[in-house]
Amino acid sequence: MKKILQLSFGILFLSSYFYAQEKIESDFINSKDAKIYLAGHDGLVGAAIMRKLRDDGYTNIVTRELHELNLLNQAATRKFFEEERPDYVFLAAAKVGGIVANNTYPAQFIYENMMIEANIIHAAHEYGVKKLMFLGSSCIYPRLCPQPMKEEYLLTSELEKTNEAYAIAKIAGLKLCEYYKKQYGDNFISCMPTNLYGPGDNFDVKAGHVLPALMMKMHTAKVEGKDHVVLWGTGSVYREFLYVDDVADAIVFLMKHYNGATHINVGTGKDLTIRELAELVKEIVGFEGALVFDVTKPDGTPKKLLDVSKLCALGWRNKVELRQGIKQMYEWFLNHQHELRK
Ligand SMILES: NC(=O)c1ccc[n+]([C@@H]2O[C@H](COP(=O)([O-])OP(=O)(O)OC[C@H]3O[C@@H](n4cnc5c(N)ncnc54)[C@H](OP(=O)(O)O)[C@@H]3O)[C@@H](O)[C@H]2O)c1
Repeated sequence: MKKILQLSFGILFLSSYFYAQEKIESDFINSKDAKIYLAGHDGLVGAAIMRKLRDDGYTNIVTRELHELNLLNQAATRKFFEEERPDYVFLAAAKVGGIVANNTYPAQFIYENMMIEANIIHAAHEYGVKKLMFLGSSCIYPRLCPQPMKEEYLLTSELEKTNEAYAIAKIAGLKLCEYYKKQYGDNFISCMPTNLYGPGDNFDVKAGHVLPALMMKMHTAKVEGKDHVVLWGTGSVYREFLYVDDVADAIVFLMKHYNGATHINVGTGKDLTIRELAELVKEIVGFEGALVFDVTKPDGTPKKLLDVSKLCALGWRNKVELRQGIKQMYEWFLNHQHELRK
């Protein structure tokens, strides 16, 4: 009799647990008028999340410009949450940059990212946000990480020095989500996207990421009739790239279908060398000069390929292949010359 009672309680407990998990998911899927705070809405990723949410029929999306709400300010962030009381939060605001910016401004990268994350995540906890998605980055994994990089390889050896400050801040962010879930039961999740690119990217050759910087350099060289462009590093390191509308699709998918306690990788599972990438951009841009690699400049981590089996097992895969994505990005670049972030 005792055993039957224990078994019934067990079944009851398990079904209510799964019901609760399911309920949280269906809440986001079905509540198209729930209040969603999209932090970093005008950034590369934030703008793509906005497009995806609107396409999916979400109507109540709250945003703030930097001059209205500086997320480095804890009191202002708290006041915003107190007034707006969002149900869901996408945390896509961050200080972001390429290898040169990361290497040159490490203090700003660690300070600003840690402040933004801590301010938003703590306010989301205080004001009862139902679910929050934090965006990290694949640079959280060790410099010489076994490839492809599985989620569990986090903190198993030293980080890449050129982006250590940014990586430490991002690790702190995913751990904040993990610990708030563990201690308070908050449904805060995090994903780690690979290198992203697409419309709205930062084309500044010093501050931006490798793909937009390559595009800008080659386009300028083509327009100015130069016979070569100089690129940082040896060109032999491997990188993975994901189109920004694909990452937004994955982020919204995870908000609907993932409640796990640990972070989850978002990528394509395929990589190529920087030299191969540069050749592809050169072809799409139509630059006919030579590519010169400045080997005195750092390369960064030798290989960074995410293991995306966890995400694939949930049923998500990228749709836009690299060549198609770069073509779409270049078309956008040509049509938005007056509003490029440079
Ligand atoms: N880009 C990539 O390749 C990549 C790869 C992996 C992961 N991610 C992650 O994706 C997220 C978004 O990156 P992104 O590429 O979209 O960056 P982004 O284009 O630079 O956008 C960052 C956004 O954050 C906002 N922001 C920065 N500091 C702020 C502050 N103090 N207060 C309020 N807003 C602030 C910016 O506002 P303003 O425009 O007004 O400055 C902008 O809207 C980051 O967490 C990043 O780690 C990006």
